[in-house]
Amino acid sequence: ETVDWDLEDTGKSGYDHYMLKEINEQPHALRQCLSGRVDELDGRVELEELDDLIEDPPEAVQFVACGTSYHAALYGARRFRDRGIPAQAFVASEYATEVPPTGDRLVIGVTQSGETADTLSALREARNRGVETLAVTNVVGSTAARECDHALYIRAGPEIGVAATKTFSSQLVALNLLVEGVANGPRSGVRPRSDGVRGRLAALRELPGQVQQVLDESNAAEVARTYLDSSGYFFIGRGYNYPVALEGALKFKEITYEHAEGFPAGELKHGTLALVTADTPVIAVVTGDDEIARKTVGNVKEVEARDAPVIAVTDGRSDVERYADEVLEIPKAHSVTMPLLANAQLQLVAYHVANELGRSIDKPRNLAKSVTVE
Ligand code: G6P
Repeated sequence: ETVDWDLEDTGKSGYDHYMLKEINEQPHALRQCLSGRVDELDGRVELEELDDLIEDPPEAVQFVACGTSYHAALYGARRFRDRGIPAQAFVASEYATEVPPTGDRLVIGVTQSGETADTLSALREARNRGVETLAVTNVVGSTAARECDHALYIRAGPEIGVAATKTFSSQLVALNLLVEGVANGPRSGVRPRSDGVRGRLAALRELPGQVQQVLDESNAAEVARTYLDSSGYFFIGRGYNYPVALEGALKFKEITYEHAEGFPAGELKHGTLALVTADTPVIAVVTGDDEIARKTVGNVKEVEARDAPVIAVTDGRSDVERYADEVLEIPKAHSVTMPLLANAQLQLVAYHVANELGRSIDKPRNLAKSVTVE
């Protein structure tokens, strides 16, 4: 008797695709990212590699990144702004065309591989301007890690699937650690033991278990089967869920080859609403219990009134569930970790649609894991 054995399959641990394996590795990857780096009781993060930076924190931050890493950068920039540190995210290939601001700042390159040409080039541009640089990367000894003044490793482990999954989640967690380090440093005047800081650190500790719960209980496979023949897919989210909407759409495009677009929830009505029909599902990420969520529910009503099927990713908001044709439930969580739970659902939706359509999930056409040309 012979066994079909394919070298390519040996690393998949029984999964059909590396992508699904890597999606399922997220709880472990996030624990690795956090391991030994959080002192919850004292309300501190320990990032020895960044001691200098934390001692003497920047007045402002600029992010440069591409693709999925750009979405992590958008999230990271918002986290910094929330903690009172001005921050912007740039698509790396556009950075050099921007008029450089003056003043003390740090440029952070977010790059899984540490080898993306556009990102390396933006970081070099920053250094030529005399600006301090930090690489947030998965690959120890990568070009970005070597060339930057500082490196923060996301510790996600190797990612084989071209579509980034566990590395995106790990980037978000690493950026949270970075923010807590820089914003609560000795000169910041922040009381580290404050409830806010400790609450966010506790949320990070709980996150891997909550991601596991989403993965275990997700109905994304059934939802995916219902909407295979649609003519386009819109992803909307507001606030921290805006980068998640962009990432949900990018993941979907990369592996399903179907047209998808992500929008800030309030922006869809300014033009793109003309494309919304009964044939274009709208995947709406609506979480939390604040004004931001209430406004997004209003945007969901707008598309529902145009007969678009609504797929809601929500932590049990009954108002959005009322308008939704399908619900992808996530547990209630802190506003900074909730986006990662929503993202896990969107990864699974993209995966299952691509799988139903028989796409080349781990190696989508035209795409490479890391792009080394500008
Ligand atoms: C390529 C990949 C994307 C990735 C981007 C940035 O385009 O196909 O999945 O997000 O590069 O990669 P990096 O290694 O810099 O995060």
